[in-house]
Amino acid sequence: MRIAVCPGSFDPVTNGHLDIINRASQIFDKVIVLVSYNPNKQSACFSVKERIEMINAVIGDFDNVVTDCNEGLLADYLERTNACAIVKGLRAVTDFEYEFQMALANRQLCPTAETVFLTTRPQNMYLSSSMVKEIGSLGGDISGFVPPQICSAIISRLYPEKGIIKI
Ligand code: PNS
Repeated sequence: MRIAVCPGSFDPVTNGHLDIINRASQIFDKVIVLVSYNPNKQSACFSVKERIEMINAVIGDFDNVVTDCNEGLLADYLERTNACAIVKGLRAVTDFEYEFQMALANRQLCPTAETVFLTTRPQNMYLSSSMVKEIGSLGGDISGFVPPQICSAIISRLYPEKGIIKI
């Protein structure tokens, strides 16, 4: 069985992530969406449990996709689960250097797993969890950026005032 891991912060999962997960699920036998620890992102908006719940709410259509979380090294997780690939989405050239560094380091740490880059769809090129959080926290419309099943939960966290009638 060819197992791929889609690692990320997913704080929160976006339409861009979901597209990559969907496409990975058509290439591999099993895809693990792994909520991982990124030391460069210290203060998450959603807890790991909430992020996993949101991912679970949007992967219902894919029967070979599961979720998990990991606080340690991705390479160790890949070995533990016998995964043969790390799947990452690539947006603009600006992603490339960072992703390339991680791919090389992961290859050194876990030579049995390949990093596979899937290019984003053009409509998701500018999309990131950070952008969703910024727009949502300022009361903007995020419905075009995140799956409908989790949109209101995200808005409630980012902009609790929304929906309250001000007099
Ligand atoms: O969505 P992100 O925050 O860009 O994803 C980055 C992530 C979480 C995949 C990366 O930070 C990661 O792999 N973290 C796990 C710890 C690890 O293995 N670090 C070394 C990477 S070479």
